[in-house]
Amino acid sequence: MLDLLITNTTLPDGRSGMSIAVQNGTITAVEPGLQAPAHETIDAGGYLLSPPFVDPHFHMDATLSYGLPRVNESGTLLEGIALWGELKPLLTAEALVERALTYCDWAVAKGLLAIRSHVDTSDASLLAVDALLEVKKQVAPYIDLQLVAFPQDGVLRTKGGVDDLKRALDKGVDVVGGIPHFERTMADGAASVRLLCEIAAERGLLVDMHCDESDDPLSRHIETLAYEAQRLGLQGRVNGSHCTSMHSMDNYYVSKLLPLIAESGVSVIANPLINITLQGRHDTYPKRRGMTRVPELMAAGVNVAFGHDCVMDPWYGMGSGDMLEVAHMGLHVAQMTSQKGIRQCFDAVTTNAAKVMHLKGYGLDVGCDASFVLLQARDPVEAIRLRANRLKVWKKGQLLAATPEVATKLRLSGRPGSTAFLERS
Ligand code: FE2
Repeated sequence: MLDLLITNTTLPDGRSGMSIAVQNGTITAVEPGLQAPAHETIDAGGYLLSPPFVDPHFHMDATLSYGLPRVNESGTLLEGIALWGELKPLLTAEALVERALTYCDWAVAKGLLAIRSHVDTSDASLLAVDALLEVKKQVAPYIDLQLVAFPQDGVLRTKGGVDDLKRALDKGVDVVGGIPHFERTMADGAASVRLLCEIAAERGLLVDMHCDESDDPLSRHIETLAYEAQRLGLQGRVNGSHCTSMHSMDNYYVSKLLPLIAESGVSVIANPLINITLQGRHDTYPKRRGMTRVPELMAAGVNVAFGHDCVMDPWYGMGSGDMLEVAHMGLHVAQMTSQKGIRQCFDAVTTNAAKVMHLKGYGLDVGCDASFVLLQARDPVEAIRLRANRLKVWKKGQLLAATPEVATKLRLSGRPGSTAFLERS
């Protein structure tokens, strides 16, 4: 007897009429039309079953702090960093844990079950590190929370920055972070990339750096990151986040850079909601979009994922943990409006992001964790278009959240009972 059988569902690769069988939290069969005795059988009505959404770039130590102690008036990255500096002395571990747990509840409701969060290590107390390690422990049954040691104020620029980052790693933070473009000089930025990659190589850790988050076409730390990944044998273990300067770079230089990134196995995370908001702030008109070159990176064979980055914090006052909103913005900013492009944007918040995080047991194949989301949409394109309702969210076979199916009954004269919004075919 199976624990759970989901029938008549559509998978992101387009297969329809599929059944998914679950036993002991694991997918045991994926077959068309499979019927078998189960403790619970759910007819998916043809709707899309997706692996959970994955956010590979977030800041959970800052989330839901919007307005504390004030709002970012200029809307710039730099005022956001300054504002975060004003907030840090006011932080308490209790409030930080409470806000993070609230966000994790929002995430589960949206089918977001894996998050890579940067945690600021610039404060010698490591208060945020201890708080997020506690959150990681508490949410472990339902969210894979991976933490990145992130020296927000610059690992070389901050007195004791290297020691504080290493202490965070000693406490159990998973990934080595960095922010080379925020160091004092280009040379210091490059030195920080080298140093941090060496720390990761020594400790056998993954790397995820905020890299070139600026509109400066000469900010080229991604080049050093790719070089160091190759030099230290870290292929497939290094990620460059943001890489917005690539938007403004000279095309000739980019034609040399893309193969280097691909060869080095460095993945790239764009953060569409934040990039379109924070970049181009020094422009008059035309204003640059500022997001990195997503379709070109993908075409070069680079694994590209999308992150949410911020929700209601010093940098961004919007957001709800909805990775379909992230994909929706991503396809607009990158102009990935073909059917293929839209599906690639869906992959950017699911499978590509899972690859960045090295998630184990992720996917809809036999042997994978029975973690998935039933969406009120018929395919990934419709899911993004509608930012589709998450009908049910499972983690290892356990139902975590459910939202009733949405249908608006219209009561127009002469047309009683017609159903708008979404009709099943
Ligand atoms: Fe970030």
